[in-house]
Amino acid sequence: MSKALRANPAIARVWAYRERVEHEAADQFTRLAEGLSAVGSDAKITALARRSALDEKRHAILCSTLAREFDPEVEFDCPQLGVSLGPRHWSVADQTLYAAVALCCVTETLSSALLIEMHGLSTHPLVRQTVHSILQDEITHSRIGWAHLAEQAQRTNVRWICEHLPSMVAEAMGGELPLVKGGVDDLSAYGVLPRSKAHTIMVRAVREVVLPGLASFGITMLPGR
Ligand SMILES: [Fe+2]
Ligand SMILES: [Fe+2]
Repeated sequence: MSKALRANPAIARVWAYRERVEHEAADQFTRLAEGLSAVGSDAKITALARRSALDEKRHAILCSTLAREFDPEVEFDCPQLGVSLGPRHWSVADQTLYAAVALCCVTETLSSALLIEMHGLSTHPLVRQTVHSILQDEITHSRIGWAHLAEQAQRTNVRWICEHLPSMVAEAMGGELPLVKGGVDDLSAYGVLPRSKAHTIMVRAVREVVLPGLASFGITMLPGR
């Protein structure tokens, strides 16, 4: 790798942004674990959510290491912690189901799809190692949501999630896309996919994984959405 490419603030910014997102995910999983425990979810699912919070903290460290690799002077954003997924006036059970679907079934599934592509294209050794390590965990994190949804679908009607599906998907897709502005080189070798490719991968993951998975529980995208 050339010296010029080694110091690359644009790549560093993306990894610094991801560091913030990982901290926020850790915060969300901590809250999700509390919700799962409160609603009497399977102890294994709850334990997995708790462990996921620790995974996300580890991911944040990996991302910050990479950000500094590309720019030792890179600045990190302050994560937004304590943000509830879904309206606060909902019951704990509804908030927990909403968070499990939004965070795990949708966001972690899209994240896994992007990471699979990144892993296939990355050539920088530390990027490749980091992407591989994070990918292993994100696939497990997505399963927490599917497991909780399956559990809840046996107890109650979960179809009310339908009307929230568009905003969940939009929120999940909006996270990664603003990172790469147009007119830059393809930085896939460093874990930064072109914006259009990232969009295509996420749309495919929604169509082929998220929507069919949710449809098996009667949760479908409402017509026109
Ligand atoms: Fe993560
Ligand atoms: Fe995750």
